[in-house]
Amino acid sequence: MMNNIEITKNTYCVGKIDDTKVPFHRLILEKGTTYNSYLLNTEKPTLIDTVDISYGMEFVKHLQEIMDLEKLQYVVINHVEPDHAGALGALMNKAKNATIVTTELGKKFLIGMFKLQNRNFHVIKDGETLDIGGKTLQFFETPFLHTEETMVTYSVEDKILFPCDIFSTHIANYELFNDLAKEDITEDFKVYYKLIMHPHRPYVRDMINKIRNLDINIICPSHGYVLRENAKKYIDIYDEMSKVELSTDKKALVLFSSMTGNTSKIAQGLKEGLVEMGIETNVVNIKNADLNSILEMAKEASAIMIGSSTKYGDMIGSIEDVVKEIVKLDLSGKFGAAFGSYGWSGEAVEIINDYLKNSSLTLLDTSYMIKATGDDHIKLPLRVNFTPEEQTKEICIETGIAIGEILIKN
Ligand code: FEO
Repeated sequence: MMNNIEITKNTYCVGKIDDTKVPFHRLILEKGTTYNSYLLNTEKPTLIDTVDISYGMEFVKHLQEIMDLEKLQYVVINHVEPDHAGALGALMNKAKNATIVTTELGKKFLIGMFKLQNRNFHVIKDGETLDIGGKTLQFFETPFLHTEETMVTYSVEDKILFPCDIFSTHIANYELFNDLAKEDITEDFKVYYKLIMHPHRPYVRDMINKIRNLDINIICPSHGYVLRENAKKYIDIYDEMSKVELSTDKKALVLFSSMTGNTSKIAQGLKEGLVEMGIETNVVNIKNADLNSILEMAKEASAIMIGSSTKYGDMIGSIEDVVKEIVKLDLSGKFGAAFGSYGWSGEAVEIINDYLKNSSLTLLDTSYMIKATGDDHIKLPLRVNFTPEEQTKEICIETGIAIGEILIKN
């Protein structure tokens, strides 16, 4: 069933209610879900997000019944996953004059997904406003909540936040507003947070800081209930839960051998990300440690990352001796990854990777990370050409965060 429910003057929910058991990120949503899209019927009519790709034609037909799609001026895409942007291809065939409003990365993905290279895009800047004729929208980038390109949209005069996946709940419902829900939704709201958002906890903190000063009366997420009663309570739940590290007894060990200090910087970046995720992390320069204590730490660790600079096509120092001893241990149930800085071809990183691949641990490589995180920006083994500059330092931290996510989930 398609919705057409007024939220506030000239703002409507026009999404899809899916009360089947929905497959989603290798889970089954037992209570179904909704794909909420929002129509702001102003002088420059604007749609915020669409619905799941499987309901694209139904969605467009429904919109045609309530408006002339050639008058649609803007389509805001907060997040490109197909349960929100999925109807965009079908929609843009009819909305011939619409401009797509999204992030830089969102534009890249949407062009790739729907061949929209000849359509107008408006790429937002963080905090930028857009006059849509009677209402003002403001956009905030919220990367990694839960994919890299995500943003949220705030309707300034109406004090409504449109956060897409954030603040959602997977419950198919026909009443839409939380104050009309037949049961308390708090537990479902928290379960959604834990599954989808908490693995990205540091980014939740960034998002909370961005929206903290907005005056928000209503939250219109893309799944489940519109939170018009006590919206602050739901922001506070994210605020509180994202402050708390999940209780984990998992430990990580980051071992390295560094020629000029660059591989050491990668190790520190990995540690920074892991610690952000609440993982106790030992960073050990093998030059300063004895083999027995390294092996004891390896036995206790849930993840072992080993790095070396490359000199003359090989590892440096005595790290190969250490690696050979580590891979003799029973490493089943543990994760491992290789890293290192290099100048030309970086053979040391690949040799360490081979050792780990042939051991009893689970190797974290790019393929594993794509499947585990639903994202492809983490590349493993982690190879850094020469010195980790600001951008690559950030990648090292993000890699640590992503490995931390895997430890929390497993
Ligand atoms: Fe609701 Fe990220 O999809």
